[in-house]
Amino acid sequence: MRVIILEDTDDVAHVGASFFLQHLELKPASVFGLATGSSPVALYNCLINAHRNDGVSFSRATTFNLDEYYGIAADHVQSYRHFMQVNLFNHIDVVPSSTHVPDGMAEDPITACLRYEESIAEQGGIDVQLLGIGRNGHIGFNEPSSSLASRTRIKTLTKETIEDNARFFSKDEVQPTLSLTMGIGTIMEAKKVVLIATGRAKAKAIKDSIEGPVSASCPASMLQLHRDTVIVLDSEAASDLDNQAFYQFVEEQRQKLEAA
Ligand code: F6R
Repeated sequence: MRVIILEDTDDVAHVGASFFLQHLELKPASVFGLATGSSPVALYNCLINAHRNDGVSFSRATTFNLDEYYGIAADHVQSYRHFMQVNLFNHIDVVPSSTHVPDGMAEDPITACLRYEESIAEQGGIDVQLLGIGRNGHIGFNEPSSSLASRTRIKTLTKETIEDNARFFSKDEVQPTLSLTMGIGTIMEAKKVVLIATGRAKAKAIKDSIEGPVSASCPASMLQLHRDTVIVLDSEAASDLDNQAFYQFVEEQRQKLEAA
């Protein structure tokens, strides 16, 4: 795993976004896996700015989101589809039919999940997958104890995740407890994974993911077995890591090699 530790939280967004922009330059028809939540918002702003100010085009790109609340319609303000429209899709030139978010209202969710997997495969798989991480180490909505080989399916959210996400819901809104999420096996098939995390609340999950054992108790630890994962952190999210100095040394060496 490549671990990049940055002082400034804004830099996490810029560096995270750079992996998507570099890939898009090499392959305009890139297939991106996307996430919702607080973590990616600043990164999406970087992509929007690259489109507006630098003429970067997403017109040939395809996107697949990690997850959606089950029982929530795409046009509901709490849906992850709505989140993606407001925070990214409405501001770039991606073709609407090339953006995919699991259907939270699917009548037959099992078939819908299988179909989601097939759609990813039809596009040749995901080139670069963006991940945030839950305080309990979840990626997508793969909560602790999720099979490390899991595919897109219905998952029950943990109490901790429901509490963490309660901040997005008003008191009178019913908060979903189920989701449709790509599996850990689905995520592991992405050619590159970029996980971003900021803030002290993520420090333990980051420590367990990078320096703990590979375990279904911390789903993100499975990324230790991925061939090309980059984890971009601010100093707070990195603060529990034992080997911070080494990760920083590795980055310095990498920069020297790239400059040579
Ligand atoms: C959202 C998702 C989740 C979030 C995670 C962190 O699509 O897949 O795994 O990335 O819950 O959420 P934030 O960024 O809000 O802390």
